[in-house]
Amino acid sequence: MPIHYLEAHRSFFLQSAGSSYICQILPQGYLAHVYWGAPLQPQNLDFAFQWRDRPFSPNPDNSNRAFSLDTARLEYPVYGNSDYRSPAISVVRSSDGSRQIDLRYKSHTIVPGKPALAGLPATLASDSQADTLTITLADEELGIEVDLLYTVFAEVPVITRSALVRNVGPATIDLERVLSASVDFIPSVAGSHFVHLSGAWSRERSVEVSPLRLGTQSVESRRGTSSHQHNPFFALAQHGADEECGNVYGFNLVYSGNFVASVETDAHDSVRGQIGINPFDFGWKLEAGETFQSPEAVLVFSPEGLGGLSRAYHRFYREHLIRGKWKHEPRPVLVNNWEATYFDFDAEKLEKIAATGAELGVELFVLDDGWFGKRNDDTTSLGDWKIDPRKLPGGLEDLARRINEKGVAFGLWFEPEMISPDSDLYRAHPDWCLHVGDRPLSQGRNQLVLDFSRADVVENIYDQMAQILRTVPISYVKWDMNRHLTEIGSAKLPADRQKETAHRYVLGLYALLERLTSEFPEVLFEGCSGGGGRFDPGILAYMPQYWTSDNSDAIARLSIQYGTSIVYPMSTMGAHVSVVPNHQLGRVTPFRTRGEVAFTGAFGYELDLGALSPEDREETARQIALYKEVRPLLMQGDLYRLRSPFRSNEFAWMVVSADRREAVVTHVNVLAQANPTQLFLPLRGLDAALEYKVQGADVTYRGDALMQLGLPVPPAFGDFISTQWWLKA
Ligand code: GLA
Repeated sequence: MPIHYLEAHRSFFLQSAGSSYICQILPQGYLAHVYWGAPLQPQNLDFAFQWRDRPFSPNPDNSNRAFSLDTARLEYPVYGNSDYRSPAISVVRSSDGSRQIDLRYKSHTIVPGKPALAGLPATLASDSQADTLTITLADEELGIEVDLLYTVFAEVPVITRSALVRNVGPATIDLERVLSASVDFIPSVAGSHFVHLSGAWSRERSVEVSPLRLGTQSVESRRGTSSHQHNPFFALAQHGADEECGNVYGFNLVYSGNFVASVETDAHDSVRGQIGINPFDFGWKLEAGETFQSPEAVLVFSPEGLGGLSRAYHRFYREHLIRGKWKHEPRPVLVNNWEATYFDFDAEKLEKIAATGAELGVELFVLDDGWFGKRNDDTTSLGDWKIDPRKLPGGLEDLARRINEKGVAFGLWFEPEMISPDSDLYRAHPDWCLHVGDRPLSQGRNQLVLDFSRADVVENIYDQMAQILRTVPISYVKWDMNRHLTEIGSAKLPADRQKETAHRYVLGLYALLERLTSEFPEVLFEGCSGGGGRFDPGILAYMPQYWTSDNSDAIARLSIQYGTSIVYPMSTMGAHVSVVPNHQLGRVTPFRTRGEVAFTGAFGYELDLGALSPEDREETARQIALYKEVRPLLMQGDLYRLRSPFRSNEFAWMVVSADRREAVVTHVNVLAQANPTQLFLPLRGLDAALEYKVQGADVTYRGDALMQLGLPVPPAFGDFISTQWWLKA
C-alpha cells in the first residue's frame, strides 16, 4: 500500500515510486505540508514544525502566540485568518458578503485505484497501479467542504492532486478561486530556480530558467486556452540541478483553459508552489448541494534533474494519460497537404500526393483546411462542415475511398470551435459565438469563437462532425483552433454567471471530445492550435498527438521539440519534413536533416511528394522504411537530452529501449565551423557491459566507452548537418 497513515502523529506518507510526499493534521485541525522529495520511511516528523512567535504574523488562537497560519506550511491555504500568502481557494458567501474561510480536517479515506473527475479529463490508473487518499476539510460555519484528492502511483514518482468543493450549507457561495494544488516546501528541500516553458506562435515552449526571488513569480494564460505563450507547467529546481542531476519538482495541469502556475517566496524562506485554473476572470456560483471539481495537477519529483523529470512525465503520460487504441499502436507515417497546396487543390492534386505517398511507404494522407463550405482562403465557412462540391465534386466519401484503394488511410482537418462571420451557421445563429451584448466582436484570422459553454452549440457541431465520421472512412482527425478567446460572454448565462463562461467553454470542449472519441475509438485525433498553441495534458487525454508548431523549419524545431520534451513524450509531438526554402523562415536545410529532426516525433511529411527530386524521393523512401523499423523504440523509449540547442551550436538527444539493448542517437551541428574540434558525444542510459553495433556501419562500441568517452561525431561540412546512429546490442 503506497499510502500510510500514522495515527499517532496524524500524518500521511504518500510513497510513490522513488519519492515521498508527507502531510500532517496539526493539533488545530489544519492540514500541513511536511515534506516532498526522496523517499522517507514512515516515522515521527513532528520536528519539521518549529513554531516561533513572529511579530506581524497574527495568531488564530491567542493562547498560542507561536502558531500562525502565516508561518505554517499548508496543503490548501485560505485567506482571512492570518495567512497572507496566496490562497488556494477564495469564496464569497452570498447571504452576507463574507470572504472568510477556515478549512480544518474532517475525515479521510484511502481507496485502491483512482476515481474519475466529473466533466474533466484526468490520468487513469487501475486498482493495482495506484491508491487514492481523499482528505476532507470543512468550514462548518460557512457550509463548505473540500475534498483534497491525492493519487499515489506504485511505478512512477508521481502524485496527482485535485480539489472538489461541496456546498453543504443553505446559502449560495461564489467561488472566486479554486486551485488544484498548493505545496509549501520545507526550506531545506525547496527549489531555488523557476523553470517554465514559454514562447509565441511558431516559437513554442522555450525553456526559461530564473532564480527564485522574494515575492511571486508566475506564468499564466488569460487567453481562454492554455496558449502558445505559456504552458500549464512549471518546475522548481534545486540549486545546482541540471539536465541529469539535482532535485527537481514538476507541476503540470491537466487543463486547456486559463491557468496560473506560480511560486511565492517570503523572507522566512517559505516557498509556495501553486497551479490551477486562473482566478483572473473566473467565477462560479455554487448553489446549496452543488459541487465544483478542479482540474488535476500532476506533481513529479526527480532526483535526476530535468532529464529525470522528463522521463517520469513521459512514462506516466504514455501509460496513464494517453488512452484508447492509439496508446500502444504505431502512429502512422502521414503526409499532410497543407504546405503542399494550401487552399489551392482539387481531387486530382490530392490523389497524386497520396499515390506518390503510397509508393514511398506513407500510411496516412491528411486533407487539411479548405475542403468545406466555400473556403478558398481563411475568410469564410468555418462552422459549415459540408463538402465544397466545386473542389471535390465526387464528395469526401469518393475521395477517401480512392485514397484507401491506394493503400493509404484518409484523415481530415476540422476547426470545430470556430465560426466565420461569412458562414451559413453564423447567418442562422448570430448569437452562437462568444459575445458581450451588442459590443463589437474582435476577429482573429477572420473568425469568431463558438460559444462552447452552450450545450446546443456543442450539439450542433457534434451532429455535423459525427455525420461525416459515420459516412466517410476517416482514420484520423486534425483538430485545429486558430485564435484565442475575446468578448468572453455567453447569451445563455445570466448576468451573475458570466464569469463562468471561460471554464464552461473548456468543459463544453471536453464534453464534445469525450463523445467523439468514445463513439469513434478507431480514429486517431491530432490536436493543433496554430501549431502547438494548446499543447497540454487536457488535450492529450483525448488526442494522443499534437502538431507541435506551425514552424516546420528543422533548425527552429530543435528548440521547439527540445522544450516540448521537458514534459511531453516524443509520441505526442507531430513532426513533419517540409520543403526548402522553409515557408516560415526561408531557411534552406538538407533533406536528411529535416528527416532526422522529424524522426524525433510522430513522423510525417508536409510537402508535395510528387514534386520531389529523384534524390529526395529516394531519401524519403529510406527515411520511411527506417522510421517504421525504429518507430516502437522512438515512441516508447526513454529520452536522454545530450546537448541543448538553447545553450550551444549543437542539438543531441537519444532514445533508449526499456531493456537498454537498443538506442537511436540524433546529433545536429547547427552552424559549420572551420577547422572543427573533434566532438565526442557521451551517451546515457545504456548498459555499460553490452557491445553496441552501429546499424549500417561496421563499427561496435561497448556501452561503458560510449557513456564515458562518447560517440565520435563526424565533422560537419556545411551548416545544419545531422547525424543519426541506430545502436543495437
Ligand atoms: C493552422 C494549423 C496549420 C494548418 C492551418 C490551416 O495554422 O496549425 O497546420 O492546418 O491552420 O488553416
